[in-house]
Amino acid sequence: MIEPYAYDPDDSSHASLGRYNTTENEADIQVFRVPSLRNVAETPPYFHDGSVSTLEEVVTLMARHQLGREIPASDIDLIVAFLQSLSGSPHPTLMP
Ligand code: HEM
Repeated sequence: MIEPYAYDPDDSSHASLGRYNTTENEADIQVFRVPSLRNVAETPPYFHDGSVSTLEEVVTLMARHQLGREIPASDIDLIVAFLQSLSGSPHPTLMP
């Protein structure tokens, strides 16, 4: 079963309310932009609040919160290896 992401509704930053902060539409509570995974191994910490520092933990939480599954450590290692393969040189025309 998909497990909702735990958040503190009294957090003064309200960051975990997601898109709701902009729209004030209750359907947008905890709606977040799905980030690009390009170079993701180089860009910790992860999630909207920077609360997760390793890809292993991110993948564990994604499986739990987005797929409702607990996945074996061996699968997590393979997914992390895939995510690490997404690292490359910055696109020259996109550099500031
Ligand atoms: C095993 C499958 C998945 C993997 C390996 C995965 C991987 C990741 C990673 C590495 C991040 C962190 C990116 C960052 O912070 O820079 C992330 C964030 C996110 N993913 Fe996934 N993901 C998976 C499944 C899903 C699914 C099924 C959905 C939606 C239906 C989803 C939606 C999101 C969203 C909305 C975020 C941003 C969350 C936030 O900012 O708090 N993911 N994912």
